[in-house]
Amino acid sequence: MVKVDVKYTKLFINNEWVEAVSKKTFSTINPQDETVIANVAEGDKADVDKAVAAAKKAFHRHSPWRTLDASQRGVLMLKLADLIESQARYLAELETLDCGKPIKDAEDEVYFSATVLRYYAGKADKILGNTIPADGEVLSFTLKEPVGVCGQIIPWNYPIPMMTWKIAPALAAGCTVIVKPAEQTPLTALAIAALIKEAGFPPGVVNVVPGYGPTAGAALTHHPDVDKVAFTGSTEVGRIILGAASAVNLKRVTLELGGKSPLVVFNDADVEKAAQIAHAAAFANGGQCCCAGTRTYVQSGIYDQFITKAAEIAQKRSVGNPFENVQQGPQIDKEMYEKVLGYIEAGKQGGARCLAGGDKLGSKGYYIKPTVFADVKDDMKIAREEIFGPVQSIFKFDTFEEVIDRANDTNYGLGAGVITNDITKALSFAKHIKSGSVWINTYDHVTSQTPFGGFKDSGLGRELGEDGIAQYLETKTVTLALPKGPQL
Ligand code: NAI
Ligand code: MG
Repeated sequence: MVKVDVKYTKLFINNEWVEAVSKKTFSTINPQDETVIANVAEGDKADVDKAVAAAKKAFHRHSPWRTLDASQRGVLMLKLADLIESQARYLAELETLDCGKPIKDAEDEVYFSATVLRYYAGKADKILGNTIPADGEVLSFTLKEPVGVCGQIIPWNYPIPMMTWKIAPALAAGCTVIVKPAEQTPLTALAIAALIKEAGFPPGVVNVVPGYGPTAGAALTHHPDVDKVAFTGSTEVGRIILGAASAVNLKRVTLELGGKSPLVVFNDADVEKAAQIAHAAAFANGGQCCCAGTRTYVQSGIYDQFITKAAEIAQKRSVGNPFENVQQGPQIDKEMYEKVLGYIEAGKQGGARCLAGGDKLGSKGYYIKPTVFADVKDDMKIAREEIFGPVQSIFKFDTFEEVIDRANDTNYGLGAGVITNDITKALSFAKHIKSGSVWINTYDHVTSQTPFGGFKDSGLGRELGEDGIAQYLETKTVTLALPKGPQL
């Protein structure tokens, strides 16, 4: 087992490391072997109150942060990006230890996160309002101002990217934040907090409070001094957060929620290439991906060839110790492991044809065999519900019209993919599919510059790109009356 030094386990409030007010801690578990990695300070309402007070103070109009030139906010963010890259291997190892993702993936995610910080660093001094030809003898213009104190609730599937997708636009906009990492994966958020301090951000600008959702998370979403909440996680909790956000004040809310994304393969596709893209779409991060392309629709002309190929690729997928050169590590925790195995059982019971996997792997740790179901019908449980594990469901279709309707027949709308060389078909698909992202002849291509988020129950608002920073800005309209007639 690789030895990784866990340096930070306390709460990070006002640029200081503090114990929880209650003195309580919780264990973070290694999903490889179910052992305790570390005990981390368990934040709750009292700690959230302290963190929010620090963030509120840091947001005061005369504070060091608010009086800093916008360009200098960008400079601090660039410094943070450099520090994160300089620690890439360490952060990746810590991540792999805590959440079980393959080390290579973890490392790629660290570098990707640095690009997100740099993208928004460049935006910090380019946040522009408009001048407006308003009716009347007036001069009107808009100011784009930071929304204020932001609570940011992070999931366990991509802990470092999800944290940077949230803090980067908030910091560029001039907001202050309280990050609540997922209880399964608090360690890298704390390691990044140390780098935030080292980069020179003033106290209170970023605070990190690990803890559980219904306690620390709920305290944040109910707090009267929090102006905005950003969340990535389940649709179920997204609904709770939307309610909480309107309970004591009217918080701005961004939600990145679940998905059941379709990937449609037409007859003209190269079967080998299409099966590879579909495999990556379904199995990336062990299927623990909000935009995972888990519903693979294949046109009847190539269906039989495709399912054989898909099964072959899944059987070859390497699963094991994530510190080694594997494609898939263990699932995050016991709860998700059992939930995913339950879906696999439901797939079998429901009459889908299991062509690969279909079972757990080994007896220690939360490993599951990459599983492929063919002949899946639209009304089966595995066709309708988000599984969030290494399970691909393959469906047969005949016509374009039919597959658009079937692909759209879901309450989700996060991602979608289409594989065809027919440009008209591809773009018609892009036009008619109801989802926040559409990938043509690729899948899951997400970059700092491209907005990401969901239609329908997959969320509210967008992260990344121009749209991402808009979620952290208020528009203020300023109108000045000008005297009528000659003046001077
Ligand atoms: P979750 O939605 O419960 O947890 C995500 C984050 O929300 C964690 O930081 C958690 O502590 C926090 N949270 C939980 N309850 C809260 C509350 N009442 N108030 C404020 N914050 C709260 O997700 P969980 O339980 O880890 O996974 C359940 C399902 O959610 C998965 O099976 C998967 O389908 C989906 N999921 C989707 C993710 C995505 O990327 N969209 C990420 C993680 C899970
Ligand atoms: Mg939960």
